[in-house]
Amino acid sequence: MEAPNLFLLLLLNFLCCAADTYKGTSSIIFNTNGRSYYFFDVYSLPILHSPQPHHETRLTDGHSVNFNGQFPSPSASSVLISLLPNQTAIRLTSHPPPLQLIYVTERNDGVSNIYFDAVYYEGSTNARRRSALESVQDRIQIPLLAHNVIQSRVSMKDKPTVTGEYLVYVSTHEDPGIPQASWAAVYSTHMKSGLTRRLTPHGIADFSPAVSPSGTFTAVASYGEKGWNSDEFEDLTTDIYIFLTRDGTQRLKVVEHGGWPSWVNDRTFYFHRKDNDQWWSVYKATLPTEGPVSTETVTVERVTPPGLHAFTPATSPGNHKFIAVATRRRGSHHRHVELFDLVKKEFKELTRLISPETHHLNPFISPDSTHVGYHKCRGEPKGDESGQYILENVRSPIPGLSLFRFLGMFPVFSPSGDRIAYIKSEGGSDKTWVINTDGSNRRMVYDKKGFSTAWDPVRPGIIYTSTGPSFAPESAKVDVVAIDIDSDEEDNHKVLTLDGKNNAFPSPSPDGKWVVFRSGRSGYKNLYIMDAVEGEKAGLQRLTEGPWTDTMCTWSPDGDWILYSSDREQAGGRVFDVYLIHPNGTGLRKLMPEWRGGRTNHAYFSPDGKSVTFTSDYSGISAEPISVPHQFQPYGEIFTINIDGTGLKRLTHDAYEDGTPAWSPNYIEPINVQDTRADYCDFEDCRFLNRMPRPLFYIGVASIIAAAEYHIGVVSLMSLGHVYFSCEIFQIG
Ligand SMILES: *[C@@H]1O[C@H](CO)[C@@H](O)[C@H](O)[C@H]1NC(C)=O
Ligand SMILES: *[C@@H]1O[C@H](CO)[C@@H](O)[C@H](O)[C@H]1NC(C)=O
Repeated sequence: MEAPNLFLLLLLNFLCCAADTYKGTSSIIFNTNGRSYYFFDVYSLPILHSPQPHHETRLTDGHSVNFNGQFPSPSASSVLISLLPNQTAIRLTSHPPPLQLIYVTERNDGVSNIYFDAVYYEGSTNARRRSALESVQDRIQIPLLAHNVIQSRVSMKDKPTVTGEYLVYVSTHEDPGIPQASWAAVYSTHMKSGLTRRLTPHGIADFSPAVSPSGTFTAVASYGEKGWNSDEFEDLTTDIYIFLTRDGTQRLKVVEHGGWPSWVNDRTFYFHRKDNDQWWSVYKATLPTEGPVSTETVTVERVTPPGLHAFTPATSPGNHKFIAVATRRRGSHHRHVELFDLVKKEFKELTRLISPETHHLNPFISPDSTHVGYHKCRGEPKGDESGQYILENVRSPIPGLSLFRFLGMFPVFSPSGDRIAYIKSEGGSDKTWVINTDGSNRRMVYDKKGFSTAWDPVRPGIIYTSTGPSFAPESAKVDVVAIDIDSDEEDNHKVLTLDGKNNAFPSPSPDGKWVVFRSGRSGYKNLYIMDAVEGEKAGLQRLTEGPWTDTMCTWSPDGDWILYSSDREQAGGRVFDVYLIHPNGTGLRKLMPEWRGGRTNHAYFSPDGKSVTFTSDYSGISAEPISVPHQFQPYGEIFTINIDGTGLKRLTHDAYEDGTPAWSPNYIEPINVQDTRADYCDFEDCRFLNRMPRPLFYIGVASIIAAAEYHIGVVSLMSLGHVYFSCEIFQIG
């Protein structure tokens, strides 16, 4: 026994030091909509008549983002205990047992894994009621998927359940090879051997798996063969399928249009869908006891009434008395967990009574029906808990490439890598900021509304941006400006465009002489090149021309190419592809010639000019959007590809919107930089849940008001549109 251990030790030692001296080649920085503010932890609340704040127990440890919990069933719990080393197993079988939880955590450098925690509270050894005053005495924390599997295959994990000796969950580690097809699929891992089996057929995506109490069946939300419709990211037209948990066989569609299933017994499950009356509601599906199972033989009945949104239902085995749901009620912008009494047909509020101004997501019920769990933002971190990062190292699947999530839109590193320019809202308007890469010296450098950023490669401290409204028409006044961020003068900027039309997305040539930008001056947004120092008055040349939109341009490091996004194949729609063109107007080609009908934006060259990073809907959505906070475009993920269109790699895997990637000129060490002024829990619930049908009585009055607003409010409608999209980082046009 001794020799192999020693060998292993030496090997680990070698790996550690090799890693220490390893230098990468380059880095990519990007933004994730809202993710920096989540601070999710999983909580538990006893099901009592009138819960008090001190009844709520936090189950996870305040590190990273923890969500989508499940309490293990008694049989799952004994299997989990049998997997543990001796000492730990003995502690777990202590009386009374610790609280146990299976959940998703992003503590692996922002990449998700599934953990099992057993939590001992002081006082849990006697029968005294737990309260928030009692502290966690001890915690056993075990990753359920092997570290090396997680490290070597960056992916998203979601919605775990332990059934028997198996962990059933969603993972996005396999590329179906079809543009815009989701990579989310259900897998089952034998926890003792690590052997993993895919339960979802290849080429199909499944979301929100739920395992039946006996473990026999798994239900999922899926588009099946029809695939994801790229415009769908609010109410999904997924159907519910069931299959054998054992091996994924006997797959059957059982309900048309539904998501987030949750079983009561092997014949009955609840799910959600948006009803024709526009309310999200919970439904009950009952499989026939005899004969074939199909969408025709399964009985479906609506459970929750109109008048409020009720979704993400949770059940406990054999419990026909109540379910737990998340709700959105009229007059509140917060999502809460409530019980719905199935006998009396009435709601019983839980979380609103203890923290009304906090979102509570994705409830789950303990197997004995005594507790409900959910995740919510933990607020300002205490003690050694992790806080908010301005720059967060995210595990990259490409050796030598470090990857950073930045708290701010359009982040770009300066030519020497020591500073970052970005756009962030201040006082309700997006302004231009600069911060040192180590988090120091944060300052606003331009106080006018703007979007997009680029550093001059030659003149130190000069950055370019566009000032004016984003998502504005061709004729809106948007100007390209150069800002001297190190100038002490109040007037530290120079407006480079003169025509008063929509001029944006400046990118300088590597010699610092020219700036390429998009302009709406002809009536269409096409690309132009102007003098970088004096602006268009010293020279202007048109680069592209056509009745479509060319935008988001960047110049290659060798000066030979300009990369941009265009909808020229389907002008005026939502389809955008990436193109390359020489600055002299020759050589036009599509970067991914075989991609059709997708949305790919914000392309940016690597420092060696051989690769390109961009954000795209290539991998569809990864989870039901209603199960995460508001995302404008939840399908946005960051990719890289060689400039010959080969070697596509997906860098990010999550249910959030990742956008505006930029490659740094040099390698930045993978570090986390703490934010000094954090906006804890500053995120919104899904905006589509704000839409609530009005009671019939008001409809007449409302339509008169709406008609009046239409006649007087063209300008306000436009600015409303802007407010709506101001955080959208996937495509800012
Ligand atoms: C502890 O481990 C030993 C050997 O590894 C095994 O024989 C024994 O049964 C274990 N004890 C318990 C309580 O699991
Ligand atoms: C246009 O520019 C490219 C590279 O920048 C060059 O290879 C090509 O010869 C140029 N074509 C003309 C007609 O000048």
